[in-house]
Amino acid sequence: MKTAITGGAGFIGSHLVEHLLAAGDKVTVLDDLSTGRLENLRTVIGHRDFHFVEGSILDRAAVDRVVAGADRVFHLAAAVGVNLIVEHPLESLRTNIHGTEVVLDAVLESGASLLLASTSEIYGKNTSDSLSEESDRILGSALKSRWTYAAAKGIDEAFAHAYWRQFGLPVAIVRLFNTVGPRQTGRYGMVVPRLVKQALAGEPLTVYGDGHQTRCFSYVGDIVPAITRISEEESAYGNAYNLGGSYEISILTLAQRIVELLGSESPITLVPYEQAYAEGYEDMRRRVPNNSKAKDLVGFDPKTTLDQIIQNVAADHRPVKAPDPLGWKVTMAAN
Ligand SMILES: NC(=O)c1ccc[n+]([C@@H]2O[C@H](COP(=O)([O-])OP(=O)(O)OC[C@H]3O[C@@H](n4cnc5c(N)ncnc54)[C@H](O)[C@@H]3O)[C@@H](O)[C@H]2O)c1
Repeated sequence: MKTAITGGAGFIGSHLVEHLLAAGDKVTVLDDLSTGRLENLRTVIGHRDFHFVEGSILDRAAVDRVVAGADRVFHLAAAVGVNLIVEHPLESLRTNIHGTEVVLDAVLESGASLLLASTSEIYGKNTSDSLSEESDRILGSALKSRWTYAAAKGIDEAFAHAYWRQFGLPVAIVRLFNTVGPRQTGRYGMVVPRLVKQALAGEPLTVYGDGHQTRCFSYVGDIVPAITRISEEESAYGNAYNLGGSYEISILTLAQRIVELLGSESPITLVPYEQAYAEGYEDMRRRVPNNSKAKDLVGFDPKTTLDQIIQNVAADHRPVKAPDPLGWKVTMAAN
């Protein structure tokens, strides 16, 4: 199968590239390397079935070049991470709304199918016990940059759905809930790599707010095969699927577990949101997925424990790298 991936040099995208090459796909990546890195693709650069194009999803000609001849496209390119969104609101909105429209249009013309990466952020402040795909979205003020990521991804979903309804574009949507693993950086606000790095450096672990906000973390090694399977199901077109971890944990307990598991002597410090972000920052207290729709479709049943996730992230941050814990061994064929 010929597959194109936007954002393939990023955290999730680079694991997807390895997974698909190992399964025998020919893979082309389009990435502007804004948050992604070529280093993430070190195991696949030079592979005869891998092709990398540096460019933006805002550039229609570049997108056309990459999707031409593809059977399927994964659209992962986006401005991701609270820090990035708050610091660069305009560029983020353009990438996350206009960029997706460019991709949808190019894929429609090419005749490929599309998988769109959306996010649990779109549920906003809905603290329900079990967020299903039909759950309400409760967003804060449109004047707070913090909510523009959720707003933009919501628009992306609406665009994708309209392309499906009006033009029959075969597009499926996945809503990812706090995906974690090797290669994710803490630079743009991702909590697990940031806390792990602090613990390994013996620095205080900075937990924002009162630390009682909860999340359900999932492992990239469980998410990538599920995304792939969903992209292969015709009945997924026109639908959205939650993909998240099943274990709910507060950020304070997460920090304590990281310290304990890594044998760190670091203290844990609570930092008020106003100090961590700009004045008026809002967070969601809780976010718990109902994964049953993805379980019914592709048997999604994430198995990696939080302890294992923390260990694998820590291994990625140590100066001497352990063998890749995901184990998708890409066999390098001679060109
Ligand atoms: N990591 C998570 O927990 C999570 C949760 C929900 C949704 N998602 C979604 O999954 C996708 C991948 O996220 P990630 O965590 O791997 O983040 P990431 O920042 O590592 O990956 C995004 C990639 O897109 C690229 N990119 C950004 N703007 C671009 C542009 N204009 N043109 C081309 N490439 C561009 C970046 O360079 C990067 O390689 C995103 O769509 C994100 O919204 C991720």
